[in-house]
Amino acid sequence: MHEHYKYNILGSQITLEVPISTFFLAFVGALTLMAYASSLGRFLLSITVGSGVPLKRFKAAKGTTYAIVTGCTSGIGLEFARQLAAEGFGLILVGRRQNALDDLARELEAAHKIRALSVVADAADPSDLHAAVKRIADVARTVDTGVLINNVGASHDMPVDFHETDPAEIDNIVQTNIAWTLQLTRAVMPLLVARSTPGTAPQSLCMTIGSLSGRIPSPMLAAYSCTKGGLRTWNTALAAEVQSKGVVCTMVFPAFVVSNMSKIRKPSLTVPTAQTFVKSTLGAIGAERGAQGRMYESTPYPAHAVMDYAISFGGHLAENFAVGFVHSMHVKIRKRALKKKQRELAAKTE
Ligand SMILES: NC(=O)c1ccc[n+]([C@@H]2O[C@H](COP(=O)([O-])OP(=O)(O)OC[C@H]3O[C@@H](n4cnc5c(N)ncnc54)[C@H](OP(=O)(O)O)[C@@H]3O)[C@@H](O)[C@H]2O)c1
Repeated sequence: MHEHYKYNILGSQITLEVPISTFFLAFVGALTLMAYASSLGRFLLSITVGSGVPLKRFKAAKGTTYAIVTGCTSGIGLEFARQLAAEGFGLILVGRRQNALDDLARELEAAHKIRALSVVADAADPSDLHAAVKRIADVARTVDTGVLINNVGASHDMPVDFHETDPAEIDNIVQTNIAWTLQLTRAVMPLLVARSTPGTAPQSLCMTIGSLSGRIPSPMLAAYSCTKGGLRTWNTALAAEVQSKGVVCTMVFPAFVVSNMSKIRKPSLTVPTAQTFVKSTLGAIGAERGAQGRMYESTPYPAHAVMDYAISFGGHLAENFAVGFVHSMHVKIRKRALKKKQRELAAKTE
């Protein structure tokens, strides 16, 4: 005969077909499955049809709004400058090579009928840090500056164990990624806050280019990984402070992108060109995509979003696996890089 289970709950008699513990476990299981399914559904929607804050939200009603782009003479920064100019933003170009800045300013002004100002600065030079940041803020103050793209970054020449890293390389990375980014943002943020209106246009945008190395600790890029992880904490704290003042503060998480830094020349599905990467990024400002559930963070490029999301979905096990995977990938990259250096050395001495 079919067994029934009778329970007295808060004075009411209830009869169940299964023990209450089984009923409870099934209920929790169903809720968990629903949570995962809804998260997966939201993720798929976000990388297919989802969009972010439109760029025009950051433009003043009248006149030209300017965007500061650091490290704009090649790679991702160059593309930010080009695509923001194409959207009608004036540019404040920041880089360390005067000639490259002049060439880029001429190119953008001719192609997009905008004005491009430029400031020469070496983000890795501690002796010029405060003076350089002041030069940029002084220029930014003369126009309506509504966008700051913290793009400039330094990494290791090749993967290397931390205890064998050249101390000068660590200085270069920490100075460029942390000291420079924080001090420049400190100098420019008051301008962004002053022109912003919470909840309506114009708002201002402060976008910092992070790295998945700041999300997943990356053995053999320990100093770089540390600075991008540190920027992540900083960005979230800063974003929470300025959100109510109308400033959208967001940190973007790329994996590999074709550039001088990655030393990858050929694009693929998982390694976009800088042009494709920046298009995704500007089309999804503030959208979480792969960074689901992480406030003020975004992994906009779809293939990178899948990596980021999969790691979060898999929890700590997936994160630990990813650290091991990245480590073995870096061992291989180092071997190849050392061989290449040897070949170059041999060719020089021939
Ligand atoms: N590419 C990737 O796979 C990847 C992945 C994750 C995150 N990121 C991040 O994306 C950002 C851009 O990287 P990228 O790949 O576009 O690098 P990139 O191609 O090497 O370009 C870096 C840009 O920054 C400039 N720059 C470098 N050091 C500078 C300094 N000390 N002072 C002033 N300007 C300096 C470079 O100027 P020059 O033209 O004079 O060299 C160049 O314009 C970085 O924050 C990086 O960490 C990149």
